Amino acid sequence: MDVTILGIESSCDDTSAAVIRNGVILSNVISNQDVHFQYGGVVPELASRAHQQNIIPVVEAALKRANIDKSELSAIAFTRGPGLMGSLLVGTSFAKGFSLALGIPMVEVNHLKAHVLAHFIKESEDDTNQPQFPFLCLLVSGGNSQIILVRSYNDMEVIGQTIDDAAGEAFDKCAKVMGLGYPGGPVVDRLAKEGNPLRFKFNKPQISGFNYSFSGLKTSFLYLIRDELKENPNFIEENKEDLCASLQYTVIEILMDKLRKAAKELGIKEVAVAGGVSANSGLRAAFEDHAKRFGWKIHIPKFAFTTDNAGMVAITGYYKYLDKEFCGMDAAPFSRVIM
Ligand code: KG4
Repeated sequence: MDVTILGIESSCDDTSAAVIRNGVILSNVISNQDVHFQYGGVVPELASRAHQQNIIPVVEAALKRANIDKSELSAIAFTRGPGLMGSLLVGTSFAKGFSLALGIPMVEVNHLKAHVLAHFIKESEDDTNQPQFPFLCLLVSGGNSQIILVRSYNDMEVIGQTIDDAAGEAFDKCAKVMGLGYPGGPVVDRLAKEGNPLRFKFNKPQISGFNYSFSGLKTSFLYLIRDELKENPNFIEENKEDLCASLQYTVIEILMDKLRKAAKELGIKEVAVAGGVSANSGLRAAFEDHAKRFGWKIHIPKFAFTTDNAGMVAITGYYKYLDKEFCGMDAAPFSRVIM
């Protein structure tokens, strides 16, 4: 019998709904919220209001694009956390209402696990490019930088994570200092292509195990800009390509050094990347390079599945549905990381 899952994602500033049937994606609708651009970051109160406006049109569009009727749904999966509480409440409450109205079960989904399981979204019946267990997944986003050992769909262990800022935060905060807008990661990526990655040297952390730290890099970037601006007020404008290239080079070195260490110590060659920062062209190139040099079998998600999207929620919901892991009407969102 067909298993058809509606996924709902509303953890931050993207309202998204997707339909997955037997693991194959039928639709993945994402509505971005432009309202935050002028504030240089996500404003939680505005995000929840925009979710409230978007959620029903987005779900309708996802069902329409999938060409299915809501009566065909087997279950509804929603992001329970982590994320912004007001945003999560919109998706969670919608899921409860829809589940009650249709008389179908609900599946709660951890946003971070969903990023990892995005690799299992099939684009067609004969799409067999999914990772083999066990594999390592580098999860890099605006809020997280983690190395996850994935043993199965529902057995994941965080073996390393940032002790302060996330990689995306390092990109965004340094970009802000250069006046490049928000989110700065994609702009840094674009400018870095024109710059010299070895021009400026920034601090790299010395911490044990597989953990990360990006606050030292951010501070050393800030100090360089502050000192250079004293000598030359046009320093940023005249050097922004080299600044971006050097920043990106250092972030990627930090990320790959620990990932390589983890892969070597655990003897794993199947390696994936997930989360918003996995859109970075330099990081993608570093993965390709490691595949050649170390024989890694790499998994890089399609752009549509790197940032927050409901396709990843629906696929996670699909595997939990197969295990009959449903949740009750008392499921409440959680804002902080639990994994
Ligand atoms: O996973 P994500 O969409 O959302 C959350 O963290 O909630 O990740 C967003 C992060 C931002 O920090 C953004 O600057 C970064 O991903 N990002 C990039 C690129 N595209 C998005 N960072 C570097 N290069 C990119 N091309």
